[in-house]
Amino acid sequence: MRVVLLGPPGAGKGTQAKSLEKNLGVPHVSSGDLLRAAVEKSTELGLAAKCYMDAGELVPDALVLDMIDARISQPDCDDGFLLDGFPRTEQQASRLTEMLVSQGGPLEHVVSLTVGRSEVVERLAGRRSCPDCGRLYHLKFEPPRVQGLCDTCGKDLVVRGDDRDDTARQRVEVYERQTAPLIEFYRQQALLREVDGTGRPAEVTGRILTVVGATQ
Ligand code: AP5
Repeated sequence: MRVVLLGPPGAGKGTQAKSLEKNLGVPHVSSGDLLRAAVEKSTELGLAAKCYMDAGELVPDALVLDMIDARISQPDCDDGFLLDGFPRTEQQASRLTEMLVSQGGPLEHVVSLTVGRSEVVERLAGRRSCPDCGRLYHLKFEPPRVQGLCDTCGKDLVVRGDDRDDTARQRVEVYERQTAPLIEFYRQQALLREVDGTGRPAEVTGRILTVVGATQ
């Protein structure tokens, strides 16, 4: 199953992808995670991407396209994938269509998670994550059992650099300007599945599984 998760920063794409990869049996491919790993390792890509990410701007298409092409060409993506954070521009969406022609199958669903602006800003402000296992928390909506520590591995939780106030708002604006037009792009291709992204994460997962025709 080839699925794209679309939605503003904080809509819950990463949270949902972690549940869906178990239900659907396909890997979670997050462009943000791939870029953060490249920054962490100071690769050529990471060094080029860092200033854009720190400013809450999109990394140039040319850099992101090669990274995604390389990732979805790997054997674990042969039977499908959940793309989180890609595509984000019409050029990325068009190139994804071309990539999939040579990779055995088209996209089946583009799930657009709908969450209002004030709620996504609140979600970003309270997000914490484990630097070790990647588990996501929220100070109010999904707190860890022990304040500041990961339930799974006990590591100190961290705040993502681009979740700080001004940068988070900038990311939401960039989404509205550069990525939201993809909703219409995919609606015209009859691939769009709009899903209410509010409520408990498990409820949202149930709604997504319904629209993609899968069961829990
Ligand atoms: P990226 O990492 O893709 O970030 P994003 O799209 O801004 O999305 P987020 O990870 O912030 O949010 P999410 O929707 O995954 O929400 P989450 O599940 O974490 O991109 C980062 C940067 O990389 C970009 O700014 C850009 O510079 C660059 N980049 C990446 N891809 C690119 C591309 N294709 N092209 C160019 N540049 C690119 O949830 C958020 C919080 O809410 C958590 O605390 C969670 O616990 C909580 N939460 C989740 N669901 C619920 C719920 N139902 N109710 C209450 N709380 C919830």
